[in-house]
Amino acid sequence: MIRLAGIDIGNDSVKLVVNGQGEPTIIPNVVSPGYERLVLQEEDSPLKALDVMVYSPKLRKKSARYFVGLIASEDPDNSEQEETDNKATSDQSLIVALTALAYASVTGPSVPREPGQTTEEAEYVIGTGLPVRAYARYHQTFEERLVGEHEVTFLSTPKLRGRTVRLFIRRAIVSVEGAAALFNMATHDNLQVRDEELYYGCIGICEMGALTTDFPVVNRMSIDNQFSTGEQLGLASYLDSIVRDVEDQFGYRFPSRTKLVQRIRRNEYLIQRVGEGQADIRPIVDAYFNRAAQKIVDLIRKRWKKYPDIQCFYVLGGGAAALKPYILEAADTMRLRFVENSELQNVYGYLKLAKNKMSQLEAGSL
Ligand SMILES: Nc1ncnc2c1ncn2[C@@H]1O[C@H](COP(=O)(O)OP(=O)(O)OP(=O)(O)O)[C@@H](O)[C@H]1O
Ligand SMILES: [Mg+2]
Repeated sequence: MIRLAGIDIGNDSVKLVVNGQGEPTIIPNVVSPGYERLVLQEEDSPLKALDVMVYSPKLRKKSARYFVGLIASEDPDNSEQEETDNKATSDQSLIVALTALAYASVTGPSVPREPGQTTEEAEYVIGTGLPVRAYARYHQTFEERLVGEHEVTFLSTPKLRGRTVRLFIRRAIVSVEGAAALFNMATHDNLQVRDEELYYGCIGICEMGALTTDFPVVNRMSIDNQFSTGEQLGLASYLDSIVRDVEDQFGYRFPSRTKLVQRIRRNEYLIQRVGEGQADIRPIVDAYFNRAAQKIVDLIRKRWKKYPDIQCFYVLGGGAAALKPYILEAADTMRLRFVENSELQNVYGYLKLAKNKMSQLEAGSL
């Protein structure tokens, strides 16, 4: 059985949807060195303690143990993606992506196992993507890194302890971030046109991720080579500034951006200071998010002026979710569009584009 999946290997989090399986799997793109850990009480979900041995010929360290995702986000020795990282060549991103694929293989409907069998095999065709500016140079490298045979063993992970998944990635169909999101919004699951304006129009996209913001312009579902562009700037640098200012002002250190975002999502702005007393970090968050929103709005205005044929502009990605109220304020009379679950639009788009490609190939081979 070959599974078809969309995987958005984001600098903030890896998002995975497998065709026919329900909810997406989301794993923060955070990794720390793994070791034999002391488990006093098992976590209630495997995603809270991904402790894995990853083998892949594409990694510099071909085989090593890592804590991945949430468990790593608490670890002082963790690493998150930095501006200089390129997701097409990053080992860390590949480690998290393989862990996500292995996790989906053992938790989704799988081939029945023989008694005593600990190694399972999972075959995938995946759709994925790169930022506008990385696409031309790196899409082939990225595809070659993903395609092939890899292996993931879950170690102290609750419910999955000792299970090994051999992953065979047969094909990787690489698309462009932001443009894939639009394809998702314009089509139904069966790939029929859902929204004629989006499908046949000239649409501007601003997709703000953690480290990059993509501005594809898509005309009748084709990416405009001349006007599409991207910026090496995302929400992460603002989050890093917030982490730093909070530490300077209150002596409270967030161990990772992920931990800060978890709080912002829950609207929890009060932090506990060492000793007694609490502090409100809201003013710091507001200051940086206002700045980020202003920057995004300026960039959009500039793009739209350059290319007035654009009928409407969508603001997408996790950055849009985080900054929506601030962007609306900064945009003043310029009308911008937002959608629900904006950080998942790409991954659903990748799955649809992979489906589309596979059906074209099948039709061609008949
Ligand atoms: N609802 C939300 N509220 C606040 N912040 C959010 C929300 N959703 C996502 N974010 C944050 O927005 C940023 C961008 O998220 P997104 O998932 O789009 O990044 P990514 O796709 O992993 O990164 P990139 O596109 O650079 O590879 C992240 O820092 C993320 O933590
Ligand atoms: Mg992204």
